[in-house]
Amino acid sequence: MQLIDGNAISAEIKEELKVKVQERKKHGLKIPHLAAVIVGNDGASLTYVNSKVKTCRELGFDSTLIQLPDSITQEELLRQIENLNHNQDVDGYIIQLPLPHHIDEKEVLLKVDPAKDVDGFHPESIGKMALGMDTFLSATPAGIMELLKRKNIDTVGKKCVVLGRSHIVGMPISLLMQRNSQPGNATVTTLHSRSEDVEKICAEADILIVAIGKPGFLKSHMVKEGAVVIDVGITRVMDDTKKSGFSIKGDVDFDDVSPKCSWITPVPGGVGPMTIISLLINTLKAATNKDEK
Ligand code: GUN
Repeated sequence: MQLIDGNAISAEIKEELKVKVQERKKHGLKIPHLAAVIVGNDGASLTYVNSKVKTCRELGFDSTLIQLPDSITQEELLRQIENLNHNQDVDGYIIQLPLPHHIDEKEVLLKVDPAKDVDGFHPESIGKMALGMDTFLSATPAGIMELLKRKNIDTVGKKCVVLGRSHIVGMPISLLMQRNSQPGNATVTTLHSRSEDVEKICAEADILIVAIGKPGFLKSHMVKEGAVVIDVGITRVMDDTKKSGFSIKGDVDFDDVSPKCSWITPVPGGVGPMTIISLLINTLKAATNKDEK
């Protein structure tokens, strides 16, 4: 079994990005600027957003955190998005999900200018991704593709089973894995809460990508000898031994499954660190797209 070390790979890419931003500064080009919008005080969401902003600063990007109260109305949030669309200094921005229940998430995502949609959640971005056109790929799926690429993991013609069909991970990674690209060209099956024969289908997979938010769901009897396993789960579970009071658990029972794998991502330190990297790659792309205009 070999570990796919997301921390090591993301550190490598961070150095590459730092150099690219310095090069832009040297040539008098605009410093890429990412803005992050967060509504409310959810602890996990705040942690993720703060770590996005922190990484931006580490790498020389400009960043802005816009924190809005839980009580914000749909109209006011849409006005804030309109402002970001018109703000010439902001190259790309994200709206941290989930949003409070009284906000219509679809309407909010539709309002994002596709040229600034560094999360890749706008229907235009997803449509272009599905058609293999140049666009912003959503962060977690793009991070998974980068891990496979950097480890030279062969995906061509392989049976890839994706567990989960979320708009953020399962659906886009299913599309990317079957695209005519490298990595890609896999034979993809997407399993979800209504699927039958889940265990049998998983056990036939060469590549398993698990994104269902159920800690320890994937067990060794569901995994073929030599399979590649990508764990996208990041569920917080209570843990008295930790100072924070919780630990992060993946969707894969790592101790049970890892002896059978050729490659596997750990949690934490696998897919997670790559998500922020993809966001920064997209933000740099958004700034670069503007240079050409
Ligand atoms: N919530 C969980 N994952 C993500 C993500 O990748 N982007 C945003 N904006 N919100 C999320």
